[in-house]
Amino acid sequence: MENTINLETCNQCLLCIAVCPYKIFEKDESDQIFLNPEKIEFCMKCGHCMAICKSKSITIEGLSYDNNFYDLLETNIDSDSFTNFLANRRSIRNFKDKEIPKEILNKIIDATSYAPYGGSPENLMITMVQNKEILEKTLTLMSNFYDNLVKWLKNPISRYMIKRNVTQETFNTLTHHILPAAEKGHYNTTSGNDNIMRNAPAVLIIHANKGAKEHTHDAIICVTYAMLAAQSSGLGATIIGLIPPAINKVKEIKDLFQIPEENEAVMSLILGYPKYKYKRTIKREKRKINWI
Ligand SMILES: Cc1cc2nc3c(=O)[nH]c(=O)nc-3n(C[C@H](O)[C@H](O)[C@H](O)COP(=O)(O)O)c2cc1C
Repeated sequence: MENTINLETCNQCLLCIAVCPYKIFEKDESDQIFLNPEKIEFCMKCGHCMAICKSKSITIEGLSYDNNFYDLLETNIDSDSFTNFLANRRSIRNFKDKEIPKEILNKIIDATSYAPYGGSPENLMITMVQNKEILEKTLTLMSNFYDNLVKWLKNPISRYMIKRNVTQETFNTLTHHILPAAEKGHYNTTSGNDNIMRNAPAVLIIHANKGAKEHTHDAIICVTYAMLAAQSSGLGATIIGLIPPAINKVKEIKDLFQIPEENEAVMSLILGYPKYKYKRTIKREKRKINWI
């Protein structure tokens, strides 16, 4: 199947021309719409053309009206309810010992399919871990990883090597944010504390092929959608930046999570039923805003 427009059913509303990000739809000399073959390769399968076409005359390879689209409801969330929903969100790190039904986890995963993407929607892979034994095993390995990280960052030679191999942003996060806590044993689990995965009943990991375009940004947006979807289902969630580096550096963890060798973990989310209910939210100081 290829990308086509059915001119017999097309009502020439020209909306496909207006909405296609790459202007793949054009009009020829006789005012007929056509897909410019020279631009077809730019199609990122965003589905805008199919979603706007009243007569369903457009077919984009890999997308079908029956499987990938559904009619939008007229009603939408109002602005106050939305702000209130955001204000109610907290990073939840204390969970009830209660399993999350699979249909709820599936709903959360489904919500991520509405996220915008800069690369390709197929780039990202999601691993959902609920297996307690695997979570326990990986937690011990993560704890060891952060103990080792302290040793590496305190040794001038390995510290220099790390600095050379990571971005300045990552190096600063490691030295100013993670190291001070790791040094004090915050991530060490021998005393029974879990300050990494917080005894969450489920952990979602977003990963992608190391070379896949834009996958880092896409994964962060995807995890944000999952976090908000979790909240809408009565769950609590926290984005956990500590898990991906341990997965990427310790093969045993990667294998236990069954993440393909060629992939890198980008972001993770812990999920569960919140143990406590907050009485108030925090309204942070406004960010520096420059109106121009
Ligand atoms: C990129 C990113 C990474 C984070 N990593 C962790 C983490 O490893 N462990 C953790 O407990 N919280 C983590 N958080 C959650 C933040 O610490 C949390 O958002 C912050 O404390 C503010 O609290 P709030 O989310 O309840 O407003 C992370 C958040 C983001 C956005």
